Amino acid sequence: MAVVAGATGGIGRAVVARLARLGYLVWPTGRDGTAVKALSAELPHAVPWPFDLGNGPPVVPPELTEVDVLVHAAGLFESGVVDETPADRWRRVFDVNLFGVVDLTRALLPALRRARGRVIVINSTVVRGSPAGRAAYAASKEALRVFTEALHQEELGTGVRVTALYPGRVATAMQREVRRREGGPYEPERYLAPETVAAAVASVLGTSGEAHLTELVLHPARGPQSS
Ligand SMILES: NC(=O)c1ccc[n+]([C@@H]2O[C@H](COP(=O)([O-])OP(=O)(O)OC[C@H]3O[C@@H](n4cnc5c(N)ncnc54)[C@H](OP(=O)(O)O)[C@@H]3O)[C@@H](O)[C@H]2O)c1
Repeated sequence: MAVVAGATGGIGRAVVARLARLGYLVWPTGRDGTAVKALSAELPHAVPWPFDLGNGPPVVPPELTEVDVLVHAAGLFESGVVDETPADRWRRVFDVNLFGVVDLTRALLPALRRARGRVIVINSTVVRGSPAGRAAYAASKEALRVFTEALHQEELGTGVRVTALYPGRVATAMQREVRRREGGPYEPERYLAPETVAAAVASVLGTSGEAHLTELVLHPARGPQSS
């Protein structure tokens, strides 16, 4: 069984499709119940699991006893200089990008351990670039990096393998919004395709049992080298 957070987003949708093709029973999650159900109905084997990541730990359905794969592909973007970004906007971003990931991961850890499953966390190359003008988003992703590294180290003895995936710009609604706020054109041909990120997720899952791919950085070949 595979759980995908942010399943209705650009990257999440591509990951769901890829995992379904690989034969997983997919549990798409998201805050828009109608969209999550519609997405699930398009797939041969999927169970919708709607909840809002910003509302605290989700109640895990009793059928989710073993989770082979958990992919974190939900996220919120925020921009603005420190001087003009009040703390409530920081909290909104951290609620989804960090605490939502913490809550869902903790809720599923027993089921992940039973299956000796994989956790794949979609982070961002923003942690490698300048945070100026987007401190709240970059800080949430830096905190997510630390969370992911801690989880990786702590789960070494349980068989749960944790991977951080760092894509650069990806052609999704979020990137369209990023470019709008940057005041530049949206040029999807210069960014990664969501399907490319989904293929990277599949390659992590394809790693053989004795190996542990802990980090993967994916830059667009034709685009800027940071998001
Ligand atoms: N696009 C890029 O250039 C890029 C680059 C590097 C990393 N990333 C990261 O990749 C991940 C996916 O981004 P994307 O580009 O696919 O963005 P997207 O198309 O905007 O999708 C974001 C997803 O997160 C969900 N979400 C937001 N707030 C939520 C909440 N409170 N509860 C549950 N779900 C919530 C959205 O649900 P709704 O549809 O209901 O809003 C949507 O499904 C994010 O973590 C992002 O930071 C993106």
